[in-house]
Amino acid sequence: MLDIAFAKAALPKTGVVVVPLAEGAALSGQAAALDKLLSGGLTAALQAAEFTGKKGQSVNLYGPAGLKRVLAIGLGKTEGFSPRLAEEFGGAVQVALAKEAAAAVLADTLDEKSAAHIGLGARLRGYRFDKYRTTQKDDEKLKLASLKILVADPAKAKAAYAPLQAVAEGVELTRNLVTEPANVLYPEEFADRTEALKKLGVKVEIFTKKDLEKLGFGSLLSVGLGTARESRMVVMQWLGAGAKDEAKKKKPKAPIAFIGKGVTFDTGGISIKPAAGMEDMKWDMAGAGAVTGLMAALAGRKAKVDAIGLIGLVENMPSGTATRPGDVVTSYSGQTIEILNTDAEGRLVLADVLYYAQQRFSPKYMVDMATLTGAIIVGLGHEYAGLFSNDDELADKLIAAGKATGEGLWRMPLAPLGESYDKNLNSPIADVQNIGGGRAGGSITAAQFLQRFVNGKPWAHLDIAGMAWASKDAPTTPKGATAFGVRLLDRWVADNFEG
Ligand code: BES
Ligand code: MN
Ligand code: ZN
Repeated sequence: MLDIAFAKAALPKTGVVVVPLAEGAALSGQAAALDKLLSGGLTAALQAAEFTGKKGQSVNLYGPAGLKRVLAIGLGKTEGFSPRLAEEFGGAVQVALAKEAAAAVLADTLDEKSAAHIGLGARLRGYRFDKYRTTQKDDEKLKLASLKILVADPAKAKAAYAPLQAVAEGVELTRNLVTEPANVLYPEEFADRTEALKKLGVKVEIFTKKDLEKLGFGSLLSVGLGTARESRMVVMQWLGAGAKDEAKKKKPKAPIAFIGKGVTFDTGGISIKPAAGMEDMKWDMAGAGAVTGLMAALAGRKAKVDAIGLIGLVENMPSGTATRPGDVVTSYSGQTIEILNTDAEGRLVLADVLYYAQQRFSPKYMVDMATLTGAIIVGLGHEYAGLFSNDDELADKLIAAGKATGEGLWRMPLAPLGESYDKNLNSPIADVQNIGGGRAGGSITAAQFLQRFVNGKPWAHLDIAGMAWASKDAPTTPKGATAFGVRLLDRWVADNFEG
C-alpha cells in the first residue's frame, strides 16, 4: 500500500516534485522557490501550456535542474476547498504518478488538514488487488510506493492523518474481502479473517452452524441448506466509549449496531439466476465486508463509541438439500416465513441477525448494509445507495455524512406497519412471506420485510447493490470493490457520537 509521510517543507533537490496550484494564484512558498531554482522555468512552462490552475489541469517538466520531474496540477478554486476536494486532488496525484516510485508534494501553502486528506485520497486511489496475477509485466505494475507531503507543520499533519490512515486501512480490508472470489472467501473463511480485528482491540465471536441451530436461526440457516459450506455469524464489539465498570464493558449500554449481509455467493438457489453476470454475486457479501472494514476503522482510530458489528455469512446454492420455493421456516424472532423465492435470500439472513442484535444489545440505533435488490439499481443507478429508515433524524444525519464523504444516499419510502407495501408480505400459511407485490417497488418490499424484524426500534437500511462494485474508476476509488459505506458510517459516528 502507498506509504504517506509528512515532512517540513524544503525544496527537494532530486526526484519527482508535485506542485499543487490554485486557480489564478501566483506561485508562492516552495513553489516560488522552485521557480527561482529553475530561473523562472516553471512560470514559463505554465504560461506556455496556458495553465490556469483549473481542477485536473496539469503540466509536466522532465529533468529540470537535476530533478526527475516537476508536475503542476490544478487545485481549482481554493475558497471552499473541502477535505473531499483535497482527497480528489490526492487521487489525481496518484493517477499521474502511478509509474514513479516516489514523489514529494509541495503542500506548504495549504493547511495541514488538507494535506492529510490529500494523503488519504492518494492512498484510497492507489488501491490494487494483484494477489492472483503472476504474469504482470513490469510496465503494468503500480510503482508508486511512497508519497512525501511537505507542509509547514509536519507534526500537525501527521496527527490529522493518523485517524484517516485507520479509515483507509478499513476501506482496504473491505475491498480485499469483497474482491476475493467465492471459492476462496466462503462463510468460514470470511469469519476467520475477522479475527484479524482482535489485534485492534475488537472482541470477535464466531458462531458456527451448530451454534446458530441452537439459537434457532431458522431463517438465516435456510439459505445455506444447499451448499457444502457452513454458515456463520460473527459479532464484533468495539467498546471505545470509555466505560469504567466491568458490567458495562460486558454489556455496553445502548451501543450502535451495524448489521451486514454476507452472502459469499448468491446463485439464487433453486430460484436460480441466469448465467450472464452471475459472477457478480461473489460480491453479495459487500454489506458484511463494509461492516467489517468499518469496525476495523473505528477500532484503528480508537473511536470514542461503543459499536457492535454483526454479520450473517452464508452461501446460496441449489442442491438436493436446498430450500424449495414454498418452504416455511421459523426465524429467530419466532415469526414463521414462507420462502416463495430462494433468490430473495439476503432479507432472510438479515431478519435473524437484526433480531439478535436487538435481543442481545438493545442498540440505540441499528444500521444495516446489504446488496439487497437489483431493483435499487433500476431506481437509483450507480450514484446513490437507497436509504430506508423509520427515524427521520437518523436518516438526515446519515445523508449528511454521505455528502461529506462523497457517498450518496437517497431516501426511499417505507410504510408504517399495516400499509400496502407491507401488506403484500402477508402469507396465506405463515406469518410473513419473503417476496410480494411482484416486480413493482422491489427494493421497498425488501425493506418492508426487514422492518418486520426491527420492532419499531430506530433503524436504517442501506441498499448498496448499485454502489458496492464500480465498473469505472472514480477520483478516490479505482474500479472494482468500492467499500461503499465504510467512510460514510465512520463519519456518521465521528459527527454524532464522539463529541
Ligand atoms: N443479491 C441480489 C441483489 C443484487 C442484484 C445485488 C444485482 C447486486 C446486483 C439479491 O439477493 C437478489 O437476488 N434479489 C432479487 C430479489 C427478488 C427475487 C425479489 C432481485 O433483486 O432480483
Ligand atoms: Mn438473491
Ligand atoms: Zn443476494
